[in-house]
Amino acid sequence: MRKKETIASLKRAKGERKLTMVTAYDALFASLFSDGVDMLLVGDSLNMSFLGEPDTLSATLEQMIYHTRAVCNGAPESFVVCDMPFGTTNTREDALANAVEVFRRTRADAVKIEGGESRAELVRHLVENAIAVMGHVGLMPQSVRSEGGYRVQGRDEESFARVLADAKAIEEAGAFCIVVEGVTPELGRAVTETVSIPVIGIGAGRETDGQVLVWSDMLGFFEAFRPKFVKRYLEGAALVKEAVRRYGADVREGRFPGEEHCYR
Ligand code: KIV
Repeated sequence: MRKKETIASLKRAKGERKLTMVTAYDALFASLFSDGVDMLLVGDSLNMSFLGEPDTLSATLEQMIYHTRAVCNGAPESFVVCDMPFGTTNTREDALANAVEVFRRTRADAVKIEGGESRAELVRHLVENAIAVMGHVGLMPQSVRSEGGYRVQGRDEESFARVLADAKAIEEAGAFCIVVEGVTPELGRAVTETVSIPVIGIGAGRETDGQVLVWSDMLGFFEAFRPKFVKRYLEGAALVKEAVRRYGADVREGRFPGEEHCYR
């Protein structure tokens, strides 16, 4: 069993070893993932992959707390990060009250907050009140409606400079780590070189301090589309469909239950 990471061990990893994170939403899969990666992220992506919603915006704090409890129960030795959902961190007061709620009702080690310079004061407020914060800059899925879509950042000078400034502001506010999503590899590298805390990339090239993937993408369960940055480590959907098809056929054709499955 791997040793549980701490804020200090994660910060020390920068430049020493690559950090790994994968999403998890329930106890069973969290227990399967925990040995393989440094951190588990209860991402609000669960709203899409597990609730079937078109985006993350309708995820609620209750939903995130429910799933974070499950992940902490399934993987007590993992460093668990809970995503703060859309609309729960708009003011310093709301952000602190909602993050305290997460810490009271789950054993999460940190919360993740999307946003850059405009969220820096609020991140500082949480950190000053003993809430560890992971930032999230670059492409921010919670801004999909205001941005009119998911747009890769860093292809123009303006967005390149803005994402760098966002990362710097979040670091200065006291975040222990930053996710950078959907940026060019050049911007992924620049963010990583600019801040002194670990930078975890998703669709951000090869030169960040670590990587995160959504588990249902990585294990091939989410079939609707395959983002360019995803590498599939399993064809989960095909395996599950085939197994369930075989079960159905076994029952229909009298092969299940067998004698060995019967009580005597
Ligand atoms: O919600 C999520 O899964 C995330 C990752 C994409 C980083 O925020």
